[in-house]
Amino acid sequence: MEKNENIDWANISFGYMPTDYNVRAAFKDGKWSDMEVTDSDHVNIHMAATCLHYGQEIFEGLKAFRGKDGKIRIFRLEENAKRIQRSAEGIMMEPVPLDLFKKMVIEVVKKNERFIPPYGSGASLYIRPLEIGTSAQVGVKPSKEYTFLIFVTPVGAYFKNGFKPSKIAILRGYDRAAPNGTGKWKVGGNYAASLSAGKKAQDNGYAAVLYLDPKEKKYIDECGPANFFAIKGNTYITPKSDSILPSITNMSLQQIAKDMGLAVEARPMPVEELDVVDEAAECGTAAVTAPISEIHDIDTGKKYIISKDGEPGAVTTQLYNHLRAIQLGDEEDTHNWVTILD
Ligand code: PLP
Ligand code: COI
Repeated sequence: MEKNENIDWANISFGYMPTDYNVRAAFKDGKWSDMEVTDSDHVNIHMAATCLHYGQEIFEGLKAFRGKDGKIRIFRLEENAKRIQRSAEGIMMEPVPLDLFKKMVIEVVKKNERFIPPYGSGASLYIRPLEIGTSAQVGVKPSKEYTFLIFVTPVGAYFKNGFKPSKIAILRGYDRAAPNGTGKWKVGGNYAASLSAGKKAQDNGYAAVLYLDPKEKKYIDECGPANFFAIKGNTYITPKSDSILPSITNMSLQQIAKDMGLAVEARPMPVEELDVVDEAAECGTAAVTAPISEIHDIDTGKKYIISKDGEPGAVTTQLYNHLRAIQLGDEEDTHNWVTILD
């Protein structure tokens, strides 16, 4: 039980650190079991399980924070519960009931309370729910049985640069998702499909890939495992397409932008528009809000310089500060986004 005593909270990476417990539930004979709490890091599955052969795997990512008042806050629990249901329906898995999802998230956070990073450390507790098809199939068919589990791990910044702007690459030879494929769901296979482009970008000194739409290569889609937004004058612009995962962070930032008096446009965004934007950033649970300094379209040689001084834009900084303040309880949660644990 001494596992957390020597954690250097301010310097932890975005990686896996073992915690005390995880929670699980199983779908069998047409119904979900109640949750079970375990201290095992392993899952025992049949070698013919559909998750191993046909990619029946979906997941979520959300965070818990310790406030200045000592309270634990979970950000947008309900939205993540709803999104994993949509992902399940998307690839013919059994949706986890909303109440079971919420109860299990709350339980796993409470059981691992000592791993919630202290207020002011900049770190948070990352919550990773996942569901897999577990029954044996050889024909390409959905599983009849499912396991849903949630583990937690303390994390620091996803990007090494933190809030310092990074360079991003457009790689036109790669798609993250197909036009009518699984991009709008949080399906494991989407991430496998992104690995090789991600490695190519990183090997060339870029923090992430900015994907263009997979149909015409004309519009901006997503930015690595995050959504993209830009600020132009008094407007927050974010791409809209069927291959984008609807980011809950983006949804929250759009509301914060409106609260700040900005106009919000969610619409197809031609890549050339990058020439006229004032600020750009990626956003997601892991990335929070990560500003972008330059975007290089590698295959055409075009370079979009977004931040001339290499500093984060003023509006992006304000959006980020409001988001963090709501998550930590420093600012009033006027939209009821936060679940406070007792
Ligand atoms: N897009 C992709 C592909 C992602 O993996 C994520 C991460 O969850 C996001 C966007 C951001 O979504 P959210 O803000 O809900 O974490
Ligand atoms: C998240 O932001 O929660 C994600 O899922 C990104 C991740 C794949 C690291």
